[in-house]
Amino acid sequence: MYDYAFEYWSVKTMGTENLVTLDDKNKDYILDLMKSSEKIKEKGSERKVLDGKHIAILFEKPSTRTRSAFEIAVKNLGGSTTFFGKEDIHLGKKESIRDNSKVMERYFDGIGYRGYEQSNLEKMDKQLSIPVVNLLTDFCHPTQALADIFTIYENFDEDFTELELAYIGNGKNNVLNSLLICSAITGLDLNVVTPEEFKPNSKVFEKAKNISQKTKSDIKHFNDKKKGLKNVDAVYTDVWVSMGDSKDEWGNKIEKLGEYSVDRDIMSLTASDSIFMHCLPAFHNRKTDIGREICDEHNLDYLEVSDDVFNSERSVVFEQAENKLYTLEALLKKLFK
Ligand code: CP
Ligand code: NVA
Repeated sequence: MYDYAFEYWSVKTMGTENLVTLDDKNKDYILDLMKSSEKIKEKGSERKVLDGKHIAILFEKPSTRTRSAFEIAVKNLGGSTTFFGKEDIHLGKKESIRDNSKVMERYFDGIGYRGYEQSNLEKMDKQLSIPVVNLLTDFCHPTQALADIFTIYENFDEDFTELELAYIGNGKNNVLNSLLICSAITGLDLNVVTPEEFKPNSKVFEKAKNISQKTKSDIKHFNDKKKGLKNVDAVYTDVWVSMGDSKDEWGNKIEKLGEYSVDRDIMSLTASDSIFMHCLPAFHNRKTDIGREICDEHNLDYLEVSDDVFNSERSVVFEQAENKLYTLEALLKKLFK
């Protein structure tokens, strides 16, 4: 399992802008991205900062939203993309991360990477003199957190520091890891609501708590749903078994996380104008092959969220997906300014 490398940022060669985790970003950086995303959403793209530039996209795992939004964002900024799926590239099989990085930077001006191990991304980043963007690893999903925080930013008139988000379900989760750091940096309050066995990564949680002391964000963990969800402004959940996790985990997770599944009762604990969030894809009915197989086996109609909550007026899940377009474009503008 990846050991959260606090030392990483002190050894990283400075000078190349990147997004490997959100740990080295500050509140101004993220708020600036939010404002830039808002402008892009309202007025469209303007500066062609990627004019004549070529971006490689390396994906070891499937993607619908992140790949689409990233490719569109590059093209909107005047650049071109070359996509490499898991089977298209020698990376890790016939060629080391170092050698691959040395080759890639001769052809490309930047890299978007979705892979299994965060440590591989960090190794790659250390070799590269061009920007690299983390488009999901087993450890974190920083560009998802940017789209999420932007969705919260545009859905409420209040300042971030006035708002409270609750993440409920499996705390050992890449999306939550980035949400914890992003909330702490921006000053958003975050309640993580999970059973004891599925508490968040302790190092990430502590790191978020440390950051929060400066930003006045309130980061807490609860086992008790009623306490953790009381009057919160937004409820977030993610799948209980992520890409790359073993299918064998479903049984135990359904047993332990079943009562943390987001349904109308859970939503009734929250503020009357609260929103429901999910990074997607979601198991909210039996209309997918995997969802149906797992639901059949355990006699369920849905997993981490009920269909009625997922499709309710409070649900902003498709806005989150759309907002990847603007936040990724804003990020690329910043990285290539
Ligand atoms: N939320 C998210 O990253 O979706 P994709 O896996 O479709 O990119
Ligand atoms: N936790 C999920 C997020 C998908 C966007 C996964 O890693 O599969």
